[in-house]
Amino acid sequence: MFKYHCLNPLSQTGLDHFNTNYQKTDDLKDADCILVRSAKMHDLTLDPKTVAVARAGAGVNNIPLEDYARQGVVVFNTPGANANGVKELVIAGMLLASRDIVGGVNWSKDNASDPDISKNMEKAKKQFKGTELAGKKLGVIGLGAIGQMVANAAVSLGMEVYGYDPYISVNAAWNLSRDIHHETNPARLYAEADFITVHIPLLDSTRGMIDRAAIESMKKGVILLNYSRDVIYDEAAVMDGIAAGKIRKYVTDFPNPLTAGKEGVIATPHLGASTEESEENCTVMAVKELMDYMENGNITHSVNYPDCTMGICSSDGRIALLHHNTKGVIAKYTSILGDAGLNITDMTNKGKGDFAYSLVDFDGELKAETVEALEGIDEIYKARVIK
Ligand code: MLT
Repeated sequence: MFKYHCLNPLSQTGLDHFNTNYQKTDDLKDADCILVRSAKMHDLTLDPKTVAVARAGAGVNNIPLEDYARQGVVVFNTPGANANGVKELVIAGMLLASRDIVGGVNWSKDNASDPDISKNMEKAKKQFKGTELAGKKLGVIGLGAIGQMVANAAVSLGMEVYGYDPYISVNAAWNLSRDIHHETNPARLYAEADFITVHIPLLDSTRGMIDRAAIESMKKGVILLNYSRDVIYDEAAVMDGIAAGKIRKYVTDFPNPLTAGKEGVIATPHLGASTEESEENCTVMAVKELMDYMENGNITHSVNYPDCTMGICSSDGRIALLHHNTKGVIAKYTSILGDAGLNITDMTNKGKGDFAYSLVDFDGELKAETVEALEGIDEIYKARVIK
């Protein structure tokens, strides 16, 4: 029996995908694995029995990935599971920025008691006039699951789309409409686009990526969209750009004291993935990732360890070793397993950055002292007996 703890409320339909080997616990310290949406985990101390964290969503800036990796805790995310929900809000954001829909809705509310509203609206409406999306140029920075969907949808709306992603995957490239122009230099995209939207993870290398110089090189009247994370834009420069008339609108899903309620800003409270479908998809994917890890030691969609799968164990036993990615570790643990009289029947080792993961199937009886000896290897953070 495994216990899971939810740090945020998550879709119950999604959680129902846990099989009968799993029980929910309200006590974080009692959890073998944790599910999280937006709760900040940087100040949380995990119990040594916790071996996995799954984020129901794509961004993982609320989780201390390296610290957890050193504790032998694998962190998962759910790439693509909420992409459609975010894509639809990006399209809505472009429409809200192009036409004063919110102003018009508010006008109708404010004039609800006017018996001549039907007549007066014909005079009032000119103040809410806007522009159309068709024929405009959209620059998409980041063509992962969300960026590619936004780019394709914009093509269907008649926009001319320019995509920039130096790390695009082969799969993402295949999924892109042939009508999308591939940009290898963001400077060209900045200079051309009427709308710019970013769909990149928050990393040290992407923090403040849309900086003052980038904004200065954009077209006058550009509309900027932010459905990634607020600090990807230099928002002080964005606010200056609005004041100077350079930026027509800044549409952000991450309001903060600098941007909320300000002229030229359209802000929603992190609603990108807030749909029944996205919440359910994310939770289902997170639950499946956790179950495969807890029961088989298989890793799919980890953000701090390499992906590594070996199916279901058909030997006497399986052990997972989470370790520093350096030379000599495999020799050390295989020698301990051999000395303990165990015959390795299958194994795999994968490394990613500083961290590596080994799955070892064996025949014979694994004793507690052998596990202790494995954990005694300096480079090994955790030895987890799977079977
Ligand atoms: C994400 O990173 O995928 C979103 O932040 C998801 C969410 O709204 O929780």
